[in-house]
Formats: sequence, structure tokens, C-alpha cells
Amino acid sequence: MFKDNLLQGKRILVTGGGTGLGKEMATHFAQHGAEIFICGRRNNVLEETAQELKEKFDTPVHYQTLDIRSYQDVDHYIESIFQTGPLDGLVNNAAGNFISPTKDLSPRGFDAIANIVFHGTFYVTHAVGTRLIELQHKASIVSILATWVWTGSAYVVPSAMSKTGLDAMTKSLAVEWGPYGIRLNAIAPGPFPTEGAWARLSPNGELSESSYEKSIPLGRAGDMEELQNLATFLLADGCEYLTGQTIGLDGAQYLTGGGTFSNLSEVTDDQWSEIRNAIRKTNNKDKKDRS
Ligand code: HXC
Repeated sequence: MFKDNLLQGKRILVTGGGTGLGKEMATHFAQHGAEIFICGRRNNVLEETAQELKEKFDTPVHYQTLDIRSYQDVDHYIESIFQTGPLDGLVNNAAGNFISPTKDLSPRGFDAIANIVFHGTFYVTHAVGTRLIELQHKASIVSILATWVWTGSAYVVPSAMSKTGLDAMTKSLAVEWGPYGIRLNAIAPGPFPTEGAWARLSPNGELSESSYEKSIPLGRAGDMEELQNLATFLLADGCEYLTGQTIGLDGAQYLTGGGTFSNLSEVTDDQWSEIRNAIRKTNNKDKKDRS
């Protein structure tokens, strides 16, 4: 879909880039020539991913153990990157989540998610953005959200609240930082199954392929390449007028829950025929009454 050197010369940081969606996106950026920075809480997976990408794509890949819940640690890490040059791209991918009835959540359970997703993502964005502004260096910031920023979501309330806050951050900072050449967009993926997320969101197969066939108009989960391509497009030059947008990438899944009639996808042709007849009957009766 893209030229191999599309991201040549760009320095891109992916938080949570050692595994899952973060690793997939970092891989695609490296494949298209970017210099990669990945950070996360587990040193071993970061080291493995960095080694793998370096060998495959012959591009510099740096990794650092970091817990984004600490502003001090974040600030220190971002400063160390900027010592060698500014970033051109940031992907806010690091997150935490698990399914739980909200009545069973302790305050610490809420904080476990909100401290990573809501606070941590702001800390990284702020530490990067303030330095970019000072250096007058333009860049693209992409946050990985979820479609529940538009719908809310039962059973993952701390994540839904936190990611909705980041949707507001995306829109707000697109305006505030637009004059500095910093653009902010977000991707709201539907299901893109990864080991880490699915162990917490679908521990007993709650989200299965058969459930997608019913709930997603395209009848399937997302292909990783589709997410990689959209993230790459948002980080590349060429469409810089695009800012402040959260783009759903979900096979229209969330739109099916958005209306009173969304469950009608299960109605058969025969049932539609009966429905049509019933409506016609009502219309004809009305006409008779009017004449
Ligand atoms: C209820 C739970 C719980 C659970 C933890 N807690 N798991 N409560 N149900 N299943 C509570 C604990 O009891 C404790 O509260 C508090 O949360 C902190 O627990 P810790 O284990 O100490 O937390 P911590 O080590 O900080 O781990 C953070 C985490 C963990 C978020 C809980 O899952 C994690 O590190 N996840 C990172 C990776 C991840 O989650 N990836 C999925 C991202 S998916 P008490 O009161 O008992 O002390 C995503 C969106 C996907 O973001 C969208 C798909 C459509």
C-alpha cells in the first residue's frame, strides 16, 4: 500500500511497543524506514522486539523499560530521547484493561486502569508536546482508543471513561497545538485480537469469531495489517490537514449498536415480508378511515 521508504528519517515512539498492537505498529513503521523507540514495563519483551526489528529491517530500534504512570520517569525518558533529536511521531498505545462488573471494582481497581490509560497517556503526550513546541518541530500524535468513546461500554467502565477523556484530549490539543504544527488523531479499533488484551477481555471466549459474525457487519475481526496501514498513514506526511479526528476501524460494529433498529440484522426475508404486510395493512386501514 505504501512506498518502502515512506517513513524514512522519522523518529517514532510507540508506548507499549514490546507486544500486541504496539509491536505490530512498530514493526510496520520500521518496515517503512522509521527509527523506532519502544517502551513498556517488561524489559524482556522490549529487548526481544527491538532485536527482531533491527535484524529484519536494518533500522535503529531503541527500547526502554518505563511505567507511564510516573510523570517523573516519563519526563526523564522523553528528555533522554530529545537529547539525540526530536520525535516526529508518537503512538499512545500503552493501556490496561480487564472486564469486571463495576459494582465489584475497588477504588484501586479503577485506579489500576485510569492511572495507565488516562494519566499515563497524558503524561507522555505532555512531555513530548512541550518539547516539540519549544523546538518548533512539527509532529503527528496518534492515540489508540476504542469505539466505546462514542457509546460507553458496560463492564469496562474505567477504560471507557479514560479513553473518552483521551478522545477529548485529541480534539482539544489539535486546536491548541495546531499552530505549532502538531497534529493529533486517534484510532478507535474494534476487535483486533492479541494475547494480552484477550486474556483480560475474553478470558473464557466471550469474544469469539462466531460472535463477530453476528455483531459486525463485515462479519470478522480486524486484520492487523489494516490497523498498521491506518497508523502509518496518520504518521506519514501528505495529509497533514487531517487533525483532531478519532477514526473508527471496526467494520461498522459500533454503528450497529447506535440505533433502535440495529438488532434487525437478524430478521429473515420471510419475516420482512410479514412485517411489510403488517405495515401495509395499517396504512390501508388508515386510508379507508380517511376516505
Ligand atoms: C477486579 C481487579 C482485576 C479483575 C485487577 N484488579 N484485576 N479487580 N477484576 N479482573 C484490581 C486488584 O484487585 C487491585 O485492587 C487493583 O486492581 C490493582 O491490581 P494489580 O494487579 O496490582 O494492578 P497492576 O499490577 O497495576 O496491573 C494493572 C492491570 C493489568 C491493568 C490490572 O491487567 C495490566 O497490567 N494490564 C496491562 C496490559 C493490558 O491490560 N492489556 C489490555 C489492554 S486492552 P485491590 O483493591 O484488590 O487492591 C485495551 C482496550 C482493548 O486497552 C479494546 C478492544 C475492543
